[in-house]
Amino acid sequence: MAEVTLTIDGLPVSVPSGSTILDACRAMGNDQPTMCYLDTLTPVNVCRVCVVEVEKSRILVPSCSRAAEHGMVVSTDTERVRHSRKMVYEFLASSVDLSLVDRQTVGWMKEYGCDPDRYGPAAGPVDDRDERVAGHHHVGDGMEAETVHQPVKVDNELYVRDYSRCILCYKCVEACGEDAQNTFAIAVAGRGFDARISTEFDTGLTDSACVFCGNCIGVCPTGALMFRSEYELRGAGLWKEDSQSVTRTVCSYCGVGCNLELHVQDNRIVKVTSPIDHSVTSGHLCIKGRFGYEYVQDLGDLAVTPIDEVLKRARVIDPEVSGRDDG
Ligand code: SF4
Ligand code: SF4
Ligand code: FES
Repeated sequence: MAEVTLTIDGLPVSVPSGSTILDACRAMGNDQPTMCYLDTLTPVNVCRVCVVEVEKSRILVPSCSRAAEHGMVVSTDTERVRHSRKMVYEFLASSVDLSLVDRQTVGWMKEYGCDPDRYGPAAGPVDDRDERVAGHHHVGDGMEAETVHQPVKVDNELYVRDYSRCILCYKCVEACGEDAQNTFAIAVAGRGFDARISTEFDTGLTDSACVFCGNCIGVCPTGALMFRSEYELRGAGLWKEDSQSVTRTVCSYCGVGCNLELHVQDNRIVKVTSPIDHSVTSGHLCIKGRFGYEYVQDLGDLAVTPIDEVLKRARVIDPEVSGRDDG
């Protein structure tokens, strides 16, 4: 395969033609921050946290999607790059609940000296974001930082949507659409700051086109989409990620051979993921593989565990808790 040679931060690197600048950075062990990029999804270039400087380019370019070209001179750590990345992270952190993002993102934010508090205290919710109409944006008084707060949507037994944690990275939309599931149950509604992920006409998931494959949960980087079991256990203060074991196995439902990662706590499966680098699934599953594990842990059996009561609750839709506000 033809190769291109470019210079990144003063060092030459050769990568196969068709690689991105991010690929080239990674090939030389110089990783860049990303939020909306995932190896298994088509880049959408919406977060701009991966931007780098390219010689003779007027604007900063997104490294996750810009093709590496022969002779290109790239800088990943200039003042301009650092300032831009800092602002992106700060805008997100001042308006979105990022308390469940991965450790790398926390590390990058520290690296760039992000201080989201300098935009003022978080403003309280003003209305229902799902009701907002394009062109009628609520204008704050400038003393507080407006947020994307919404009550958590708890409308089914399998997963919850907490859009107060949503950075609008589009990964769920891509996974639900052409990159994996081809179901198109969710998309971006609204414009500007009012933009949010929604089902058609903001219906509950059970009334939407959703087939509950959970592939959107698998790609969400912020915990906005979460297994109901995890959500209930977190709410009860019983989610213990550090003590969970992860066992890789093959789904028992059909002959496709999807690999599953069973996350087990207190001898109970609490969620199921799939390895992103597996050639059969690329991290994606169907409803049976992702959620159909109850038959191996019949609740109420002899080996009752401390988390059984919460897991049982996670299988019930209570009108009182549906749409509750945990913000
Ligand atoms: S569970 Fe599957 S079908 Fe439903 S919204 Fe998520 S990706 Fe789309
Ligand atoms: S719900 Fe998650 S995956 Fe979807 S846009 Fe928001 S942050 Fe991204
Ligand atoms: S990671 Fe490149 S634009 Fe989001």
